[in-house]
Amino acid sequence: MTDPDSRRGFLTRLGQASTLAALAPLVPERRDAGSVALPQGPLDENGWKKIRGEFLPGARTISINAANMCPAPRSVVDAVVRATRDVDTDVSYQNRAEYNQLRDKVRERIARLIHADGDEIAIVRNASEANNIVAGGLALERDDEVLLLDQNHPTNNVAWDVRSAQRGFQVRRIGFATTPASPAEVMARFAAAVTSKTRVIAFSHVSNTSGLKVPAV
Ligand SMILES: Cc1ncc(COP(=O)(O)O)c(C=O)c1O
Repeated sequence: MTDPDSRRGFLTRLGQASTLAALAPLVPERRDAGSVALPQGPLDENGWKKIRGEFLPGARTISINAANMCPAPRSVVDAVVRATRDVDTDVSYQNRAEYNQLRDKVRERIARLIHADGDEIAIVRNASEANNIVAGGLALERDDEVLLLDQNHPTNNVAWDVRSAQRGFQVRRIGFATTPASPAEVMARFAAAVTSKTRVIAFSHVSNTSGLKVPAV
């Protein structure tokens, strides 16, 4: 079994959460989404064949990327098409209301996967949108300060830069060597940077530029 606190455990749960979110509208039996049992652990040739079979036929290469230009698995593409057909076929209030209930159920299931509560989960279209919702949703003022990990993905740091230019709050980046000495060094540098003006600290759990892992606090 995967250690729930390991990076692999976290990423596995996150992958499952993304798939659940994509299948959210299709949970009830009458819109049967089916289920996909993906091979786990180190993969042999057969395991990789199963993974390949999960992508649309005709693709000459498979981009295994967790975001951005990643092609969705076939089951997800099919589910999105079925859901689109369903809402376009029946636009009634009653049909749309079912999707609201399903969304809440899916939020609960995602929450269980990542050890959170359902009301802490927002289903959005991508990480860039999530970052911008947070940066745009906090009432920060001119003297307030936001601390950023310089190894955050640009969609995180640029979201804060844009809001800072609009609203006048200050953004300060905390820089590290590509591979910092230790997670403790990262924590110590952030702790030392906090002032009475600090309102937000935005850092990625795992940096996509260096693999730096910031420990949970
Ligand atoms: C760490 C990280 N954050 C955010 C993003 C942007 O993701 P999205 O395309 O979901 O907005 C990426 C894209 O690769 C990423 O690696």
